[in-house]
Amino acid sequence: MKTRHPLLALSAGLVLALSACGGGGAGSGEGGGGAAAGGGDDGQVTVGVAMPTETSERWIADGNNVKAGLEEAGYEVNLQYANDDIPTQSQQIDQMITTGNDVLIIAAIDGTALTSQLAAAADAGIPVISYDRLIRGSEDVDFYVSFDNFNVGVQQGTSLLNGLGLLNEDGSRGEATGPFNVELFAGSLDDNNAQFFWDGAISALQPFIDDGSIVVKSGQTDIAQAATLRWAQETAQRRMEDLLTSAYNDGSRVDGVLSPYDGISRGIITALTNAGYGGADRPLPTVTGQDAEIASVKLINDGVQYSTIFKDTRQLAEQAVTAAQAYVDGEEPEANDTETYDNGVKVVPSYLLESQIVTRDNVTSALVDTGYYTQAQVDAGQA
Ligand code: BGC
Repeated sequence: MKTRHPLLALSAGLVLALSACGGGGAGSGEGGGGAAAGGGDDGQVTVGVAMPTETSERWIADGNNVKAGLEEAGYEVNLQYANDDIPTQSQQIDQMITTGNDVLIIAAIDGTALTSQLAAAADAGIPVISYDRLIRGSEDVDFYVSFDNFNVGVQQGTSLLNGLGLLNEDGSRGEATGPFNVELFAGSLDDNNAQFFWDGAISALQPFIDDGSIVVKSGQTDIAQAATLRWAQETAQRRMEDLLTSAYNDGSRVDGVLSPYDGISRGIITALTNAGYGGADRPLPTVTGQDAEIASVKLINDGVQYSTIFKDTRQLAEQAVTAAQAYVDGEEPEANDTETYDNGVKVVPSYLLESQIVTRDNVTSALVDTGYYTQAQVDAGQA
């Protein structure tokens, strides 16, 4: 195995000693390039954290949680958001490398767009932790922390089936027979997770599509047709409007919508509400989601959105911090999956967490009792 991070492979004491006498760039071979770890006078470790966007509250929570955990470990943190703009994120990471950050934690916007940055990080001996979204096409991703993303998709598909009454919560066949009109939405195809969510959801839905109890009336059953670039709410709203016009102008009604993310769900719900759904004669369909965003949790409580998938970002942040600490200590982080996440060049050792279906029935136990939100936040729909 090639040694990627000579600086970090040294014991903390040695780093201190070296940086005290070397005055910078100790062990990194870069000579004074380090803003904190290299340039500091006390061996201060700096971790660069690159997050995609502040338009979704989950990434804000992720950023805050990762930052807090790293600071608690005694590291300096360089947290950046890229406004969902690929060149901005590339630049931020370039800068993290040139200013001598010691470890990088990256939630990529486009999972394939960071190859040259990662090569530069490897050259500089900086370990890279891919955060939640796998960075693809690069040898230089050292570790991946995420959830079991296929299972997130299974949970989305399963909760849609629960909401339609085709499946009971214990997994047995429900009383409903359909046929139900269902439309399918996917995430952003440059995000590796989108395919995993889709595959998981379709695996749950397929038997019901095959036996005719679910009908995708638009005929748009391909992920490329269902995709939502950058997971954008407005894009999803527009597609739902188009689907209503093109496939439901004969008086028929949408019974269910597979949505992979709460922002997308809200776009879908807006399109449906604008088209007259939500009354007694035309109830809103069963709409799924993901991330337990506070606005959607309120919609779930109010019976508007059916479900979301709760992924506890506190746990994910904790795993990212643990992995960063391992690298700082010159160790390899502990993986619990070394098979699933092939990024096209290598299988990236991963630590995967479990997620949970949340409906109106368990908002309190899953989200309030665990301290993720307060009851007041849930009631207000605002964090
Ligand atoms: C994350 C989801 C999130 C989506 C949109 C995915 O990579 O895993 O939790 O809903 O991005 O931000």
